[in-house]
Amino acid sequence: MDRVLVTGGAGFLGSHLCERLIKDGCDVLSVDNYFTGRKENIEHLFGNPRFEALRHDVTFPLYVEVDQIFNLACPASPVHYQFDPVQTTKTSVHGAINMLGLAKRIRARVFQASTSEVYGDPEVHPQPESYWGKVNPVGIRSCYDEGKRCAETLFFDYWRQHQLEIKVVRIFNTYGPRMHPNDGRVVSNFIVQALKGEEITIYGRGEQTRSFCYVDDLIEAFVRMMRSDKDFTGPVNIGNPAEFTILELAEKILNLTHSKSKLRFLDLPSDDPKQRQPNIELAKDKLGWTPKVALEDGLKETIAYFKKVIA
Ligand SMILES: NC(=O)c1ccc[n+]([C@@H]2O[C@H](COP(=O)([O-])OP(=O)(O)OC[C@H]3O[C@@H](n4cnc5c(N)ncnc54)[C@H](O)[C@@H]3O)[C@@H](O)[C@H]2O)c1
Repeated sequence: MDRVLVTGGAGFLGSHLCERLIKDGCDVLSVDNYFTGRKENIEHLFGNPRFEALRHDVTFPLYVEVDQIFNLACPASPVHYQFDPVQTTKTSVHGAINMLGLAKRIRARVFQASTSEVYGDPEVHPQPESYWGKVNPVGIRSCYDEGKRCAETLFFDYWRQHQLEIKVVRIFNTYGPRMHPNDGRVVSNFIVQALKGEEITIYGRGEQTRSFCYVDDLIEAFVRMMRSDKDFTGPVNIGNPAEFTILELAEKILNLTHSKSKLRFLDLPSDDPKQRQPNIELAKDKLGWTPKVALEDGLKETIAYFKKVIA
């Protein structure tokens, strides 16, 4: 039985991962400072003897005995990561150093939740892993983008220098139940606005495109990646290549919620990427993985969750 540490275990993705790992027979330790994560996300696991939760900030060292580490701790939405940008960089960079140091000490396999934001505002579309990105180092998104880039650098240096078994995934927009209702991410924003009958706020003219991966598909890829051959380090893109404009997403959500909300167009924030679509050929080849859940089906599950939250 594997003992697995999940940092950010009370967050949106982390809570789904804890749940899945317990189902697979692992002993799971969630480590979270509850900055954006919530105990409600994991409270259904509290009585399970395979589950433990620890309040801890990953910018400080941690010593525990485990076989695998999934490093997910980091606020993921712009409103949250821009709230305290210095802490965001520290979480990515010091958090990575602490988890890699721990992994080195106990010889654990270590996984990094990186992001498509390492590609910045890409000139290449869709983005393969070999693309180095176009990132502003001094903008308001840089704490997140550059923090994640530096974390990747650290992972690869620990691999080269200390022969650590690393697994790096670059996550593209993911959605599903347990997203934070106020995180300002497009799917949660639109659903909450539609359910409350408020205006749907669209940045720019809504012509920018995004791809949306349902959380269950993403977690399946995480598990496959962690179990993959030790020579496969990544980075590997994980996301759903089906591309939609923001306007199309708004229209789908309005239809599924039967909402009469009107659309409201706002200025585009600076450094907002115009296009975002993963090239997932590597994940298909190395992990035998493709996303299975269609946008409408995933949206239905997510809408059902937000209906309960709002009620
Ligand atoms: N959801 C996505 O679409 C997406 C896309 C790209 C990358 N990611 C990455 O996946 C990971 C999880 O994202 P999420 O969507 O679940 O976000 P989330 O905000 O729901 O989860 C992040 C978790 O990390 C915790 N955390 C933050 N700082 C911490 C610290 N210093 N110490 C301990 N815990 C801390 C938060 O409390 C939260 O529980 C993040 O690393 C994020 O960058 C997510």
